[in-house]
Amino acid sequence: MTILSILEYPDPRLRIRAEPVKSVDVEVKTLVADMLETMYAAPGIGLAATQVNIHKRVLVIDISEERNQPMCFINPEILSSEGEVSYEEGCLSVPDVFESVIRSERIKVKSLDENGETSEQALDGLLAICVQHEMDHLEGKLFVDYLSYLKKDRLNKKLAKKARLRSKKEQTDRIPTPVI
Ligand code: NI
Repeated sequence: MTILSILEYPDPRLRIRAEPVKSVDVEVKTLVADMLETMYAAPGIGLAATQVNIHKRVLVIDISEERNQPMCFINPEILSSEGEVSYEEGCLSVPDVFESVIRSERIKVKSLDENGETSEQALDGLLAICVQHEMDHLEGKLFVDYLSYLKKDRLNKKLAKKARLRSKKEQTDRIPTPVI
């Protein structure tokens, strides 16, 4: 298994819409295994293939405290949704940012599992929130897109500052050119 690198906002590749998986073959199974390893290593509770620059409709999630209940959703579709819930979300592609987002409280999801079997599941709580967050990634959408103009502006300023600090650090870390 391989730990894949995770794209970070505002990388434009996070905006690519993912394509449906045609068949759950060895390649897809390997992707699922690699995504799980990447998610556990990050560590995170969910990961969409888009975040590792693979534009296929695949999600992995594990919301268990013991980190031993991996779930996989291939070609997920929301069949119905009910209620509203607000939860402070974070994202592996937007490090150090946590903001409240309103999602549906309960959803019914149809998807394929890692064996290519179709299942329909009624989800609620954190799992329902997580599936909706990850499904947004497959559409090229990020949780920060839901923020108000003011909050988004603040976020962009914070990221610009982070980038400036990083380039300053790179400059100081650079090996000086030998003088002859
Ligand atoms: Ni995310």
